[in-house]
Amino acid sequence: MEPITNNSDLETQINNAIENNLSGRMTILAALLAVQDDIGYIPQKALEIVSELNTTTVNDVWGVASFYPNFRFDPPTEHTIEICWGPSCHITGAQDIIKSCLTELNLETEGDTNDGFINFKFNTCLAACAQSPVGSVDHKIIGRLNKKKIIDLINNLKSQKK
Ligand code: FES
Repeated sequence: MEPITNNSDLETQINNAIENNLSGRMTILAALLAVQDDIGYIPQKALEIVSELNTTTVNDVWGVASFYPNFRFDPPTEHTIEICWGPSCHITGAQDIIKSCLTELNLETEGDTNDGFINFKFNTCLAACAQSPVGSVDHKIIGRLNKKKIIDLINNLKSQKK
């Protein structure tokens, strides 16, 4: 994903993302999905553009966007960590792994680290229950997690920060 250097570039990228959206239908949701897929989040400018294209208000677009928890309204972090807390992972130690993540990332709950470098999320099932407890780092599934393994992975990510 290319960094966006100015507002004009951002506006062009938003318009291109919406024009090229695969659904071919200009619903508010389709337009927002196209922007998030292309840019990685929904900037304020996208809410304005989508409202104009759909002849509606920014508030109506915000109503749709804020309903779905998977939309982001800030630029994406460099890295993502997800820890499953579904049934299989819960009984095999997910809570301890989650606590270690929160401590290492200095977070109270899921969200972005203060430096905007790592996003941490819970997941209800990463579809690898046989390898529980399970997590993912940058969308790569990691099974048989334990506290030491996740702390090592977090420290490895932190060491990559420029
Ligand atoms: S319950 Fe954790 S991967 Fe399915």
